[in-house]
Amino acid sequence: MVDTRISRRAALMGAATVGAWIASPARALLQAGETGRVPASIDALIARMTIEEKAGQLSLMASAWGGSKAVALNPPTNGPSFESQVEEARLGQLTGVFNGNSARMARIMQTAVMNGSRLKIPLIFAADIIHGHRTIFPVPLAEAASFDPELARRTAEMAAFEAAGAGIDWNFAPMVDIARDQRWGRGVEGAGEDVLLGQLFAAARVRGFQGKSLRSTEHMLATAKHFAAYGAAEAGLDYNTVDVSERTLREVYLPPFKAAFDAGALSTMAAFNELSGIPATGSEWLMTRLLRGEWGFRGFIVSDYTGDEEMIAHGFAKDARDATKLAFLAGVDMSMQSGFYRKHLPDLVRSGEVPTARVDESVRRVLAMKAMLGLFDDPFRRIDERRESARSMTPRARALAREAGRRSIVMLKNDGGLLPLPRGGKRIALIGPFASGQHNLNGPWVIYGDDEKSVDLATGVRAALRNGNALLVAQGSGVEEPLAGGIEQAVEAARQADIVVLALGESFNMSGEAQSRTEIIVPEPQQRLAEAVAAIGKPTVIVLKNGRALALAGAVANAPAILVTWFLGTETGHAIADVLFGAYGPSARLPVSFPRVSGQQPYYYAHKPTGRPNPRGEKLEEYKAHFRGITNTALYPFGHGLTYGRIEYSDLALSSPQLAANGTIEVRARVTNRGRRPAEEVMQLYIRDKAASVTRPVRELKAFRRVALQPGQSQTVRFRLRPADLAFIGRDNRPVIEPGTFDVWIAPSAEADGVQGTFTLA
Ligand code: NOJ
Repeated sequence: MVDTRISRRAALMGAATVGAWIASPARALLQAGETGRVPASIDALIARMTIEEKAGQLSLMASAWGGSKAVALNPPTNGPSFESQVEEARLGQLTGVFNGNSARMARIMQTAVMNGSRLKIPLIFAADIIHGHRTIFPVPLAEAASFDPELARRTAEMAAFEAAGAGIDWNFAPMVDIARDQRWGRGVEGAGEDVLLGQLFAAARVRGFQGKSLRSTEHMLATAKHFAAYGAAEAGLDYNTVDVSERTLREVYLPPFKAAFDAGALSTMAAFNELSGIPATGSEWLMTRLLRGEWGFRGFIVSDYTGDEEMIAHGFAKDARDATKLAFLAGVDMSMQSGFYRKHLPDLVRSGEVPTARVDESVRRVLAMKAMLGLFDDPFRRIDERRESARSMTPRARALAREAGRRSIVMLKNDGGLLPLPRGGKRIALIGPFASGQHNLNGPWVIYGDDEKSVDLATGVRAALRNGNALLVAQGSGVEEPLAGGIEQAVEAARQADIVVLALGESFNMSGEAQSRTEIIVPEPQQRLAEAVAAIGKPTVIVLKNGRALALAGAVANAPAILVTWFLGTETGHAIADVLFGAYGPSARLPVSFPRVSGQQPYYYAHKPTGRPNPRGEKLEEYKAHFRGITNTALYPFGHGLTYGRIEYSDLALSSPQLAANGTIEVRARVTNRGRRPAEEVMQLYIRDKAASVTRPVRELKAFRRVALQPGQSQTVRFRLRPADLAFIGRDNRPVIEPGTFDVWIAPSAEADGVQGTFTLA
């Protein structure tokens, strides 16, 4: 992916500015003192800065380019015009801007700064590239379903290739928040409910975005967000209060951040929420003691969008000045969007409430980052209009989107082997609000993608069929409102068809920021449609579109075949058709548990046992932990997903009944495909610590492995466990490894029996 061409036009446009840059104080100083990764002369540059210029380097604003586009996914603001924002940049009041970017915008702003500012410190350009820049990949939750972190690394890398080509230096991703309550809308941006999966995907995405060198014009800086425990909002209500124990914080919510930082992420974003009484943005314990002290984090911390200002509404800060002081002294280096730092930091420093040395420290971090991104060497290194369009939606990117799409589809159910469908000889009725139309393919958090470039389901299915005329399409219903005459039309189409494909679920804006739901169900008008179509009695495949786990019921739950297809982006229709017609055998697994009813939320497989667990199975016992009328288990648990094979687990064996304190134990099992089609099975290893000084979850995922099996093939798969894999956060909130007895399963899901054994840790 080497692309270093610079267009003539771009070169001409940039020539004058580069000239100015070469003669600039910042350049001279930095060149004089360049010593490896972080130029020592940054301090010399800081020494020349006024306090206002320093506060400017710590202030990031939404781009004013192209009207309100930059804040389309944030609360609206009365921002400045683009002209006045360029002037702010020239006056050194801005470190950079985010969203709404394009290479052209970046060129205009950077040119103004290089030509007209006092110190000529390059701007940094940021954006939310959550699942693709122009080519839209599956939403992160969908990719997590692939149980293949390397796939996420590759799509992140492709997203960086396109975005860095468009002048973007810094990405506000990955979101690494664990989501255990499916009402929360932002689970769609993360890797789901599990800690191990969360860690692996966090690290993979960071590697993909950042590549090997931050100077690369094909990569960008990654941000692990939202620090911390944003996903633990009470009742799954976005922005809501979080109150978790330090143990749960360290055991569940923090590990994906640690994994992201260990993988090299050099920025993080303070979460909106309060954490046990203290807003994260104002938490010195979180931002400084834990992150910098305990973990040695060397990057910089940005607030979320007006996160510092919001501490006033939290009832934590008295006013804007107080909020600035609290956020800054807690350790948040940079303020996003409120403008508080540039407004109040200078005065706080003059009054002695904020030490100059602390400001210098934050400025140093930000300038060091700009240097690491190569901006001091060439402020225009990622800005090239020709490269921007040349890199946009290449065939390679589209092919990757299709691959990622089909590998993200989870088959929940396939009674009677209804799937894959035949490509000819049958009439298919494709029914539902997601049967056709490009509006709901890309999913939430798309800024630069274009709906019209995405392939809808009808198009994908038609392309897969031998005779495209054998397809009948009927909308049947709106997403959340009925469609006049829709059900009648749909029923008629179902009557004429041999097979029905019902495309139901959530629209793109029913998940994402501020989109928490109280009932995580297929919206009622669609449920009515499903019931009416089911009454016709044709074999029916449900194709779900969803940004979270859903509680499936009635005709939807009872249909013989169900595919979970999330939001797959640009290649949606092709990817789904690949699975529907068997060009690709489904291999993905649920990264979130599908509950029986909404009221079970928060439901996650790694819950604690309670003192009165209901015995396994459907039978309900009195005075045991279950709701009235249902077992507190998942309808489809974490890890569940079928293949086109028929998979059997057998012969669990342990290398020894005992794991020595400094040893390893091998756990192996046999897996066989008794079906008539090839399969890719994701074997999962879970443990349970039977008795410990702190209660442990009923199961914890410790490893997984993808195994390709031809019909009739069988394979023995080996996993290794070390004592460190059995560590947990003990009574003193530190990791501990305790001797004891452990159950171990190798199983096809978190609640499946699979094969089980027991060992002891000496
Ligand atoms: C608010 C969101 O919480 C955050 O994830 C995002 O990066 C910023 N807005 C900027 O768009």
